[in-house]
Amino acid sequence: MFASACTPAAFRRVGEAVADTPVQPDVLGPFNSDAPIDTAQAWSERRAPLLREAFQERVYGRMPAAYAPRILERKPLEIRALGDAAIAEQWTIAVTDDPDPLKFNLVLVTPPNTVAAPLIIAEVFCGNRAATPGRPAAVAEPLTPVMYPCRHGWTDPIAEAVLGRYINGAPILDVIGRGYALAYFYPGDVVADDAELAPAALARLTPPDTPEDQRTGAIAVWAWLFSRAIDAVQADPRIDAARIAVWGHSRHGKAAIVAGAFDERIAAIIAHQSGRGGASLANSEEGETLEQITSEYPHWFAPAFAHLPAAGYPIDQHALLGLIAPRPVLLGNGDHDAWSDPHSAFRAAQAASRVYALFGDRGMTQSAMRTESVEDDLSFFLRPGRHGVTTEDWRLFLQFLDAHLKPDEI
Ligand code: GCU
Repeated sequence: MFASACTPAAFRRVGEAVADTPVQPDVLGPFNSDAPIDTAQAWSERRAPLLREAFQERVYGRMPAAYAPRILERKPLEIRALGDAAIAEQWTIAVTDDPDPLKFNLVLVTPPNTVAAPLIIAEVFCGNRAATPGRPAAVAEPLTPVMYPCRHGWTDPIAEAVLGRYINGAPILDVIGRGYALAYFYPGDVVADDAELAPAALARLTPPDTPEDQRTGAIAVWAWLFSRAIDAVQADPRIDAARIAVWGHSRHGKAAIVAGAFDERIAAIIAHQSGRGGASLANSEEGETLEQITSEYPHWFAPAFAHLPAAGYPIDQHALLGLIAPRPVLLGNGDHDAWSDPHSAFRAAQAASRVYALFGDRGMTQSAMRTESVEDDLSFFLRPGRHGVTTEDWRLFLQFLDAHLKPDEI
């Protein structure tokens, strides 16, 4: 499954990005019949809707229709490893109306006696139980099949050694101790991360009369689920609905960026090693190719994404990052993760920074990949190491969140 991602070329050390040519197309230049953009208002009112349309048509497929999710169940969870430091609950959330609805389980962890805490919503790889310390039986297992190592606790030390200490889930006690609430869920509960199983759920969520080339892809649904999770939890008094961040690694980092670009309620976005279809440019010569990603994961995107026009894509991911402006976004990268193409992610962020400038915002101030500045609204880091989620990554994620969504003194 990950064959091409495991070649030596995928792990080679990444040097400094060389920005010899400007990223094309010019993010503020003419677009179809739309004139060049020179104000934040023109960007938000004219250009952003056209770009959201184009990303659905060309890359991710149609977003499912807006839907007010139903909370089917809410139950307290006893998680011994958290002791008295946090309160945990499991929410089961339906996202369709039919008698056997598509649904997902979300774990919400809050500091005790908290009011209006900023919230991080994370999508996890192996399901909620694997993301919870001690893998407690009370936490629901994923609703669709997951990779073999996800299913067994004995594999955790191996996964953590190869893919980082926090590959399965966030450092809950650190997050809570810093004053944040944390929610996490497995988006594969709704659309299985599997090319054979996904199409049935995608067909249920694709809006009627969508041309086949634009049918909804799994990443669009996983992005949409961040928004449904916000719908479900935002009225909870323990949460500050104005300070909700989304977090995702790799395929879920792609989803986090799309969520940020489509849902303006999201106050901050952390997309770690999101790679192709995430922050990295589609028109790039490095890392995973479009051919590789669309043939290995045909369910992730609209079928149209596999057909690259000879002249290259008429839109690219810097415009997607621009759709997040002026809200803060952090792009995490590893210097031995060439597969996810940190160079073109950096160049995309530099190009998107012009949109932030329209809003009078700091955008990206760093001129080199290794000199991160988490205070910037468009922020990028390149830490040593490969693909995965490490202690160092979470140190930087929390620094970034403190700079932008700081919890009240606790
Ligand atoms: C594969 C895939 C990447 C993806 C990654 C992940 O390596 O090729 O595009 O980001 O899986 O989700 O871990």
